[in-house]
Amino acid sequence: MGDVVSNESLANLLKEERRFAPPAELAAQANVTAAAYEQAASDRLGFWAEQARRLSWATEPTETLDWSNPPFAKWFADGKLNVAYNCVDRHVEAGLGDRVAIHFEGEPGDSRAITYAQLKDEVSRAAHALAELGVRKGDRVAVYMPMIPEAAVAMLACARIGAAHSVVFGGFSADAIAARVQDADAKVVITADGGYRRGKPSALKPAVDEALGRVEGVEHVLVVRRTGQDVAWTEGRDVWWHEIVERQSAEHTPEAFDAEHPLFILYTSGTTGKPKGILHTSGGYLTQAAYTHHAVFDLKPETDVYWCTADIGWVTGHSYIVYGPLANGATQVMYEGTPDTPHQGRFWEIVQKYGVTILYTAPTAIRTFMKWGDDIPAKFDLSSLRVLGSVGEPINPEAWVWYRENIGGGRCPIVDTWWQTETGAMMISPLPGVTATKPGSAQRPLPGISATVVDDEAREVPDGGGGYLVLTEPWPSMLRTIWGDDQRFVDTYWSRFEGVYFAGDGAKKDDDGDIWLLGRVDDVMLVSGHNISTTEVESALVSHPKVAEAAVVGAADETTGQAIVAFVILRGHAAAEAEGDTDALVAALRDHVGATLGPIAKPKRVLPVAELPKTRSGKIMRRLLRDVAENRELGDVTTLTDSSVMSLIQAKLPAAPSED
Ligand code: WT7
Repeated sequence: MGDVVSNESLANLLKEERRFAPPAELAAQANVTAAAYEQAASDRLGFWAEQARRLSWATEPTETLDWSNPPFAKWFADGKLNVAYNCVDRHVEAGLGDRVAIHFEGEPGDSRAITYAQLKDEVSRAAHALAELGVRKGDRVAVYMPMIPEAAVAMLACARIGAAHSVVFGGFSADAIAARVQDADAKVVITADGGYRRGKPSALKPAVDEALGRVEGVEHVLVVRRTGQDVAWTEGRDVWWHEIVERQSAEHTPEAFDAEHPLFILYTSGTTGKPKGILHTSGGYLTQAAYTHHAVFDLKPETDVYWCTADIGWVTGHSYIVYGPLANGATQVMYEGTPDTPHQGRFWEIVQKYGVTILYTAPTAIRTFMKWGDDIPAKFDLSSLRVLGSVGEPINPEAWVWYRENIGGGRCPIVDTWWQTETGAMMISPLPGVTATKPGSAQRPLPGISATVVDDEAREVPDGGGGYLVLTEPWPSMLRTIWGDDQRFVDTYWSRFEGVYFAGDGAKKDDDGDIWLLGRVDDVMLVSGHNISTTEVESALVSHPKVAEAAVVGAADETTGQAIVAFVILRGHAAAEAEGDTDALVAALRDHVGATLGPIAKPKRVLPVAELPKTRSGKIMRRLLRDVAENRELGDVTTLTDSSVMSLIQAKLPAAPSED
């Protein structure tokens, strides 16, 4: 935690009494039952060895975990497999070649259905093309793509030939590409002319061209034609995807690689310093990605239509668009664009069109839909949905309930899945056929996962207590290191508490021992000697019927150490009503938080705003709001989705009432 944090544990203020039992029909046929917890508890490694057998191995592993040199783990070390074979070929061999793997929906409304047989041919051709461009086992390939099927094909083609991919989110700048290409020493970059965003073509290749003007070592740029935009062309270096891939053979024999062979590097920005290249390897990663996708979504590949709305540039897209679902032979939807193009019901139109049964999205999106209003999803037939997922941030209980009612029709279980780029796959989550869910809680470590909450001295907190989330045993999809920097890996994750992984998140256990995530520990506030989580105050604000979204920060205060400052976005109707005069509403919101969490958590200031600053993956950037609340010059705004948001917020500040 930051300097200001006291030694006392994180306050546990929010009480949630609502419970939702799993639907009886789902529970009766669930892929995973309560027995899995017991089985994994009695033999954790045996449990994971069994899950590894859900994959097809060229050489079956006989060893499960080598933890002789912690924190450097080896899982299934003597096993060999090909990850792309597991995601594609084996389904075709099993007679499922005609099953749709990807229903692609372009933002302009174009669509394509790609079967497993077609995917196998395309991945095979792309693998040959990469080999022709000189890519070999052990090389790195950067991928900078829109959300089109070729992005998944590119990743699988790398996996097929044993080259590690490093996907750079398509919204990032030339600087970000250059830094990542350089750090991983990538040999080839795969990109597109552009993709469609907000109703128009948005170029990608110019950023690659600019980045490659600054770094050495890239021999070729492979370019998918998506938008038909004009592109600058470097002869000898640049190659059109359709020219090189289409002329290759669709027959490609996948080589088996060691289970610990690198699969991908994915950079996380972290709060400070240079991005960390999180390294994931093959057998353990795929085992946990596939198992969790099967268990947590109760995937029935013959009948389900699954849709994860994340971008392929984030780990969610890696594990739950590409590797988990495809390893399980799922049929999924992939959507290129934004949720409000051409109208605010686009997501629900897609659910209706494809009969989506499992939807996986983020709290930031859910709160945006709340703000847009209940009447929008109400216009569509969402009755196909049966399981809903959430990931990326703590989900406020009220947003959870809104999701359940307005999207899930009151009948779908919600799985709030806690994990990180570093963990590679889900770690803490309800199981939809087992868990009686609680709005706002990720609840229990999944079978085979050991997580708990500890205090400053690494002592496990009792039920009802708060502190730091730690992972106490290695898990198959854990990061293996930070690319090129083992010491930073040890320092960042394994040094805060001896022998355990520190996730950087605050958490509490409720009276039943269920885990509630409370946000990054850097965001925890210290008010009059009490550590208060931003998440709890935000959730209290969102539980007011007029609030859609809230961001809370601690600002330096002479009397209390820090004072709570809240920025709120009102729901559509409330914003219109409050037009001009928000004093009464602000007072009501302060009282509401005081009544919900107790007087200690009552915000000193509440500022209604139109937008909040968010990272490109949708997380609120509290650091910038702290700068505003403390009247400081703004820190780095380059990772913001929309940098004009901050000037709008700053403009509001002088007029803000400050009471008590
Ligand atoms: C951080 C990891 C996991 C894939 C997407 C984000 C926060 C993530 C939850 C959740 C509360 C969550 C944590 C975590 N987070 N899921 N269900 N409840 N917080 O990956 O960018 O590596 O971020 O996201 O703070 O540490 P990431």
